[in-house]
Amino acid sequence: MTDPAASRRRFLRYVAASPLLAGAPAAAQTAAPSRLPDPMIWAPRGLEAVIDDPSKALNVFDFEPAMRRAVPPAHFGYMATGVDDEATLRANRSAFAEFQLRPRRMVDVGRVDMKVELFGATYASPVALAPTGSNRAFHDEGEIAVAKAARRGDHLQMLSTVATSSVEDVNAARGRAVWFQLYPTDDWKVGSAIAKRAERAGCGVIVLTVDVLARQNWETYQRMWRTDPRSCGECHGVDLRAFVRRKPMFDGIDVGGLRSTGALTLTWDSVKRLRDAVSAKIVLKGILTGEDARLAVEHGVDGIIVSNHGGRGEDAGRSTIETLPEVVAAVGGRVPVLVDSGFRRGADIVKALALGARAVCVGRPYLWGLGAFGQPGVEAVLSILRRETLATMQQMGAPSVRDLVPAMVTRG
Ligand code: FNR
Repeated sequence: MTDPAASRRRFLRYVAASPLLAGAPAAAQTAAPSRLPDPMIWAPRGLEAVIDDPSKALNVFDFEPAMRRAVPPAHFGYMATGVDDEATLRANRSAFAEFQLRPRRMVDVGRVDMKVELFGATYASPVALAPTGSNRAFHDEGEIAVAKAARRGDHLQMLSTVATSSVEDVNAARGRAVWFQLYPTDDWKVGSAIAKRAERAGCGVIVLTVDVLARQNWETYQRMWRTDPRSCGECHGVDLRAFVRRKPMFDGIDVGGLRSTGALTLTWDSVKRLRDAVSAKIVLKGILTGEDARLAVEHGVDGIIVSNHGGRGEDAGRSTIETLPEVVAAVGGRVPVLVDSGFRRGADIVKALALGARAVCVGRPYLWGLGAFGQPGVEAVLSILRRETLATMQQMGAPSVRDLVPAMVTRG
């Protein structure tokens, strides 16, 4: 018999030391101190207002308390957490208020085309799904449900290295190849084997995440974990081997030399190494300065995602909407720039597109939908984002994404 308390303690210690896992803020419900009072509405938003059907949602925020009700507190905490004081997490939202829209009138917006083109492929919407690990922690159908919902709205989906579904199954459910997100790990043999497998599965784009490098202090996660009465070790096991055993992308790969799924030794040479290993396009996720954007282009990178990992990396306190113009300027149109972190409204998405992003990725919003209702929840979240983006484009006098230009955004 294993002692559940001891196995829980061991698991917690393992998680606290893991760069890709780690802990979160107290009761992040709607009243968590890390959250802005986001939609400023007067209607009741207490527990009695938690939606019990995706069709009742007025906006994507409505899914978060519904997810909280549906998933174990530790899993919810893993989703919700930022790092340290969560200054970056908050900045990702509050900074949108500093950018205002300058709408143009008297433009025929009777028909709006939201299509975007990326590396020769066309998607019906500029909203993409950022890679998030362990989706089965939120719903039994995990990444497969997400893929089916992405297929419905023809959204670009990115699949995490630490997904709980294989890239082959997800590509089949999505109906076209996803972009595969790579954590190269601290053992290059493992990282390159995973990248090659994704390429064999049809993925033409590898997204190399370059930001989460160190041990993370995720206090919201830790605090919510402590409120969870379950014995975590029963499902998770308690060490790295057990962790990767539950991640299908590591199947059949010799993980004997693996010490961490994080990689502290990534340099520009790593990009060259990856380039030699695969012929897929390479997109760097987590670039936050013009300097690095310029270097990325010089090193032959095919695309950039401006991302602070949803406030889970360093607590720099700078939002991605503030960072985007600097990266777009440095890149000078040579490669596509995408952005994520904190996007929740059509107006947020339109601001980024106008400032030069080719597409905008969301992470937590679709996890809220997934955790609350499975595939119909993800579909509803994506549908709300499409509806809001469309309405904002119409208000802006922009019949296509190309018509969203920097002059439409001002910083007050
Ligand atoms: C992530 N993110 C992430 N990024 C990545 O490159 N690989 C991964 O495995 C994960 N896993 C992951 C899990 C969870 C629960 C979250 C919330 C985030 C970061 C993700 O791709 C994206 O950058 C952020 O989620 C965007 O911010 P928002 O939309 O969540 O605010």
